[in-house]
Amino acid sequence: MEIRTVFVAGAGQMGSGIAQVAAQAGYRVILRDLTPELVDRGVGTIDRFLARTVEKGKLAADEKAAVMGRIAGTVKLERAAEAELVIEAVVENLAVKLELFKELDRICPAPTVFASNTSSLPITQLAGATGRADRFIGMHFMNPVPLMQLVEIIRGMATSDETCQAVLAVTRSMGKTPVEVQDAPGFVANRILAPMINEAVYCLQEGLATAEGIDTVMKLGMNHPMGPLALADLIGLDTVLSILDVLYAEFQDSKYRACPLLRKMVRAGWLGRKSGRGFYNYQ
Ligand SMILES: NC(=O)c1ccc[n+]([C@@H]2O[C@H](COP(=O)([O-])OP(=O)(O)OC[C@H]3O[C@@H](n4cnc5c(N)ncnc54)[C@H](O)[C@@H]3O)[C@@H](O)[C@H]2O)c1
Repeated sequence: MEIRTVFVAGAGQMGSGIAQVAAQAGYRVILRDLTPELVDRGVGTIDRFLARTVEKGKLAADEKAAVMGRIAGTVKLERAAEAELVIEAVVENLAVKLELFKELDRICPAPTVFASNTSSLPITQLAGATGRADRFIGMHFMNPVPLMQLVEIIRGMATSDETCQAVLAVTRSMGKTPVEVQDAPGFVANRILAPMINEAVYCLQEGLATAEGIDTVMKLGMNHPMGPLALADLIGLDTVLSILDVLYAEFQDSKYRACPLLRKMVRAGWLGRKSGRGFYNYQ
């Protein structure tokens, strides 16, 4: 089946990025969030990103207009029926995603392929909420989506070869490099990244160094482009905590236990860049 229209559920930082790269690859995109304000915020993020790209001379103004012309914002979930591929990028919450996929399964024609951008939740379990587990797959983009090369492609237990090939082709058409990964908590990226960030938060909690100090150690000592605490702020501390809670619950191994300071910050609403405050202040 040829994929022409992509429905993206969730217009937050990941959903808007996915909508952008899909539209830039020539797909027609429908971007959905819960309220018109959230939809406008997502479309506005794309518009600003592309405007900066035009200013840098890397994109022609008429190409920007064409990309924006391929993106339609909506609050109507029913519009998922127009797409051959649905990519889900809503909050990292199992109950929310299961409910959403049940609804989407009811709305979409049988051949529509479903992909989840979950950071850590089991693809097989999400697929189980639908009657199309063979047409269900994980498509884990990295943040910020327009700039990051990697997409982890996660096959659920019943994902068909045909679905996997179609999604690998879509990923490549977006200029990304897919890596196939088995369905296990955190896949590969977050199995490694989340414990590293957690350890950095423990270092901060124990007063080993300041946030700047910890990040500088990893940047200058390990050649990381960004320190783990600044990266956590970029990802969103709620998302980091959700990933650690999934790893801990699934493996029952204390090495994945989330640092109390991280949990406290999430409870305080200090979620990183998106809330204006995390390990650093963005106000
Ligand atoms: N932040 C990262 O670095 C990162 C990286 C890879 C994957 N992810 C995953 O991507 C997903 C989204 O993360 P994010 O960082 O974009 O979060 P975010 O908080 O920026 O955005 C989530 C959006 O989903 C919307 N939403 C909630 N329920 C919805 C529903 N039923 N229908 C439509 N929209 C709904 C919210 O209103 C919000 O706008 C999560 O599963 C996360 O784990 C995040």
